[in-house]
Amino acid sequence: MTINLAGQRVLVTGGNRGIGLATVQQLARAGAEVTYTARTAAGAQAAGAVARGVVADVTDRAAMAALMAQDFDAVVNNAAIITPIGRIDTVPIEDWAQNITVNLVAAFHVIQLAITGMPKGGTIINLSSGAARHAMEGWSAYCAGKAGLAMVTQAVHHEFGDKGIRIFGFAPGVVDTGMQGTIRASGMNPVSKIPRENLAAPDDAAHGIAWLCTPAADVFAGQEVDVRHEAFRRAAGLPIIA
Ligand SMILES: NC(=O)c1ccc[n+]([C@@H]2O[C@H](COP(=O)([O-])OP(=O)(O)OC[C@H]3O[C@@H](n4cnc5c(N)ncnc54)[C@H](OP(=O)(O)O)[C@@H]3O)[C@@H](O)[C@H]2O)c1
Repeated sequence: MTINLAGQRVLVTGGNRGIGLATVQQLARAGAEVTYTARTAAGAQAAGAVARGVVADVTDRAAMAALMAQDFDAVVNNAAIITPIGRIDTVPIEDWAQNITVNLVAAFHVIQLAITGMPKGGTIINLSSGAARHAMEGWSAYCAGKAGLAMVTQAVHHEFGDKGIRIFGFAPGVVDTGMQGTIRASGMNPVSKIPRENLAAPDDAAHGIAWLCTPAADVFAGQEVDVRHEAFRRAAGLPIIA
């Protein structure tokens, strides 16, 4: 399926590697004008000439507000961390709080800024996870943050769904990225035992995110969708997994 996003201005947070970078590249191929954040100057060059990289930490509220003073038609809340990985009796509270700060509070701020810049409506995609619904040993912060973000997705849909804001939670599958490397190294819980060769490439997730930016995805607005689900794959033109 060819996705046409010509004329759309899209922001991706954490677009310098992993699913974020694949998404930036897919959006650019679809004709969107793409801006992405990275935390380093080198990261802001990761996508080359196809997109504009901006150095910003998503937890830096002033930097994100300055960046998002420019209006975007679609915003992809992708930046996140998996750490701290550890049982609740061992995890430092500061590390736990930092996870929530990045994965939930900063994502919420991006949503606030996006809505303000979308008086005529727009698209917000929050990277979700199976961890939003299923507690995993060692991931209490990550699960709590992603569960919270899924609730924010629903809240925004209730408050702004009838005002043209199309918001989605999007679970990308188990994808071969740096985050999965950190998970593997932890040795904790069954996800860390998945052989690297069984992890998905980020292509389907990137395609799914780009497709959510099109009006054809309206039917999924306000929902948590999963790139592995058959209904989503059919709608988005992805091959059905046997
Ligand atoms: N991979 C999976 O299997 C999987 C499964 C379910 C959900 N997800 C979700 O998909 C999204 C992308 O995951 P991924 O696997 O691609 O992760 P990744 O490879 O670890 O990349 C994470 C990205 O987020 C950025 N980031 C982290 N903290 C940031 C901060 N404070 N400010 C700005 N950027 C920050 C990183 O920047 P740096 O390069 O500077 O660190 C990097 O660009 C995340 O929301 C994740 O929770 C992933």
